[in-house]
Amino acid sequence: MIPMIVLATGNQNKVREFQEILAGFPVRIASLKDFPKIPEAIEDGKTFEENAYKKALHTAKILGLPAIADDSGLCVDALDGEPGVYSARYAGETASDDDNCRKLLAKMENIGNRQARFACVISIAVPSGPALTYEDFCEGEILREKRGVSGFGYDPLFWFPPLGKSFAELSPAEKNRVSHRGKALAQLRGEIDKVIMWLEQRLAEEKPAKPDHRQFTDDWSGK
Ligand code: IMP
Repeated sequence: MIPMIVLATGNQNKVREFQEILAGFPVRIASLKDFPKIPEAIEDGKTFEENAYKKALHTAKILGLPAIADDSGLCVDALDGEPGVYSARYAGETASDDDNCRKLLAKMENIGNRQARFACVISIAVPSGPALTYEDFCEGEILREKRGVSGFGYDPLFWFPPLGKSFAELSPAEKNRVSHRGKALAQLRGEIDKVIMWLEQRLAEEKPAKPDHRQFTDDWSGK
């Protein structure tokens, strides 16, 4: 039987990226949109790896299916790694990208060392706990004002020296080639045969404990 993997995200951009990577491989892909009744995972880890694993395992345990999740963020050297795992909510729980950028600029106002990096960790977990991890980074510098209008998050403040542009001045294809997320996904893509074999072995071992994932969906026809 063809294994099913659930993307533990409701973010359609991420879903599309993962679907592109897994296209053509003998797996079926679902996402949290297919299972609207699943409660959200609590992202209270101290590292990107911890959060990615928590999100993947939470979904895998509830559904009894393997799950993939990622976590990412910006780490600034002069701020001891801030905003780090708090990147999405740096200026508060309901902060917008603009609010977060403004807070970062204010904190960096009198700081000369602008070195920073984006980090991305992808975790693939099976319900009983084991997981595979893929991690990558992208080095850059924090600008003193926004440049460019593409992308999201801290892109307008992230200067990428090798291309002489901010991330918000890159096309999506240019950004995917060099970004933390693009590189972590490329690692996963490079090992996809190994990952699928690993999943099949793990799932064969844990069949008896499998809950019925169909209780978490109203109308998903993938069964
Ligand atoms: P998450 O991985 O979806 O939890 O995203 C964490 C946060 O990190 C985002 O809301 C952004 O603020 C920031 N972030 C992660 N990746 C990027 C990126 O590629 N560009 C800009 N900001 C990013």
